[in-house]
Amino acid sequence: MNATASEMLLVNEPPPPPPPAEPVAADPVPAGIETVGRITVDQPRMTSRNVSVMYGDKMGIEDVNLDIGKNEVLAMIGPSGCGKSTFLRCLNRMNDTVDVCRVTGTIRLDGEDVHDPRLDVVQLRARVGMVFQKPNPFPKSIYDNVAYGPRIHGLAEGRRETDAIVQRSLEKAGLWNEVRDRLEQPGTGLSGGQQQRLCIARAIAVSPEVILMDEPCSALDPIATARIEELIDELRENYTIVIVTHSMQQAARVSQRTAYFHLGRLIEVGETSQIFTNPRHDLTEDYITGRFG
Ligand SMILES: Nc1ncnc2c1ncn2[C@@H]1O[C@H](COP(=O)(O)OP(=O)(O)O)[C@@H](O)[C@H]1O
Ligand SMILES: [Mg+2]
Repeated sequence: MNATASEMLLVNEPPPPPPPAEPVAADPVPAGIETVGRITVDQPRMTSRNVSVMYGDKMGIEDVNLDIGKNEVLAMIGPSGCGKSTFLRCLNRMNDTVDVCRVTGTIRLDGEDVHDPRLDVVQLRARVGMVFQKPNPFPKSIYDNVAYGPRIHGLAEGRRETDAIVQRSLEKAGLWNEVRDRLEQPGTGLSGGQQQRLCIARAIAVSPEVILMDEPCSALDPIATARIEELIDELRENYTIVIVTHSMQQAARVSQRTAYFHLGRLIEVGETSQIFTNPRHDLTEDYITGRFG
């Protein structure tokens, strides 16, 4: 090989190959992935931008960007551990109660930053109410379960006003007719489905704008589940609802938009019918066709 050729070879030498990547747990999502679909809505009630959550040095969710619209039901689906509850808890700062948890990014409710130090977090949790997987009525009467919030928030003066709020909230939660004659009995004595509707009434009683529901039917039988699903559809008229569900049928029945999470990332979001009939991301398709999850 003459000098010129070897010089040329040197000049054209490809860069050394990168060191082999550390073996990591299978992560089919390439780094820096963008969410597929439209993350914005025309009339956002809440917005999240670049929201990430760390539990110590472990990632909970990464860089989630998503709007939640007025009067819509948004379903969040995805395999267990993919960050659905973590994201939900960001929306009313319930993650503040988890010691090791650190939330970054911006979340707004009606344009207001929920992390603004001037914002009262108790007030925030009234505006963004929450219903949990397992119904958790207070060990109090049915009446007091619903009256509790309005009392501590000073929303009701005197018995008559409180009575009215309790009745209205129970009516909206579709429970009034079943409990009107036993308001003084303990909430914990109701059936599971009734308890969950009581918890919804409790959330409604403080006039929230948004109601977060984390797998609200997974402890209920099919009839109680159907009742809650009907209720969600009625509540949409007045509230924005974000529901985490492991049931794709439920997401399809109750929501207008669906967000698919995978390993802490928001993979795809879109109209519910599109997500279930014509998913655009392979991971969404694999999940909804039952290939994993
Ligand atoms: N309190 C916590 N402490 C540490 N890690 C947590 C905590 N809560 C959730 N995680 C982790 O964050 C990730 C997302 O969990 P989660 O939001 O509960 O998922 P999902 O609701 O989709 O099942 C998981 O890896 C989970 O182990
Ligand atoms: Mg969860």
